[in-house]
Amino acid sequence: MIHLSKPYFDKREIKAVEETLDSGWVAGQGPKGIELSEQVKSLTETKYAIPLNNCTAGLHLSLLAVGIKPGDEVLVSDYTFPATGHAIMYCGATPIFVDVNIKSYNMDPTLIGEKINKNTKAILVVHVFGQVADMGLILNIATKHNLKVIEDAACAMGAKYNGKPAGSFGDIASFSFHARKNATCGEGGIVVTNNECYADIVSSLSCFGIDSAFKRQNEFAIPSFTALGYNYKLSDINASIAYEQLKKYPNTVERKRTIAALYNNLLQNNEFISIPYEAPNNYHIYQTYAITLDKRINRDKLILSLKSEGIQTQIGTYASHIQPVYNSKDKCPNSLFLFRQSLALPLYYELSEEQCCYVAEKLNYHINKQVSGK
Ligand SMILES: Cc1ncc(COP(=O)(O)O)c(C=O)c1O
Repeated sequence: MIHLSKPYFDKREIKAVEETLDSGWVAGQGPKGIELSEQVKSLTETKYAIPLNNCTAGLHLSLLAVGIKPGDEVLVSDYTFPATGHAIMYCGATPIFVDVNIKSYNMDPTLIGEKINKNTKAILVVHVFGQVADMGLILNIATKHNLKVIEDAACAMGAKYNGKPAGSFGDIASFSFHARKNATCGEGGIVVTNNECYADIVSSLSCFGIDSAFKRQNEFAIPSFTALGYNYKLSDINASIAYEQLKKYPNTVERKRTIAALYNNLLQNNEFISIPYEAPNNYHIYQTYAITLDKRINRDKLILSLKSEGIQTQIGTYASHIQPVYNSKDKCPNSLFLFRQSLALPLYYELSEEQCCYVAEKLNYHINKQVSGK
């Protein structure tokens, strides 16, 4: 089976875990977490970085940090993973879904203005599949209407827009180290910000609303619980893996970009396929390589046909506004189309050129088969 995604670990991660286990500190917010924070601050050109147990927790705390509360409305990209809309609901606020550009899959800034009202407090923008959204226009609108900007940068570590890294545009941003991300420690995440106050809130709320045990270890001080915090800490075992993954990150991303370019070559002449669009001045890190299929192609049938050839594929991601949990009246036709017609192809560091060619060949074959009705 050629899998959709496969993490790339070697002896370096194993050595790092051994060292952490030997060190005696395996809980969260310890020395390995601090090391990871330093590394991510430098990568994202931000002042503060707080490791957490996943990106969803990071989105939740980011929204709380900028002051989102019940009754508020948050504008959010519709074409995304459940984590994005859910995080807004965790705060008791309402997600207002904004449709996406059909080519880039990212939030369409021209549709934001009509959704703003007196309850609108923030824009939660997603960098879909590892490509930064149109931040120039989005930040202009946010400034004009005094809205906070939170980046769901789950898939976008290392991605750039006009040379500036994902995570450095908004008030605060959250990244993921989930297994399908370019750098992974199984499950994990990290929040970055340039705002000291937001960083303090996220750090405290990730640890029950008190100072971490690591910070308190050299003094006898009994903390009091000043805020209803959570337990969202990233263990130092995970942090040490994420750190090693990020050390070899440029290599990982360049390899994924090379395979993406090969797919583009092999698929671009198929009139039933739109290959991923790379917006100008963007450095796409291809967490996912997702194509869009013509409406005449039955995407779900294609997934099953490819499975029978030993190829694992997947839908791109979800249209949020149609999900019952949100009870939304928003209309997002592009996102709905992408939800039905996008297809994520296998892409990972160790995928060979031969495997990539095999996937493209079978994809073209099964599309032609569907079209010809044979
Ligand atoms: C856009 C987006 N946001 C948030 C998440 C949640 O990340 P995590 O699994 O680390 O909570 C994901 C996960 O795939 C995602 O794709």
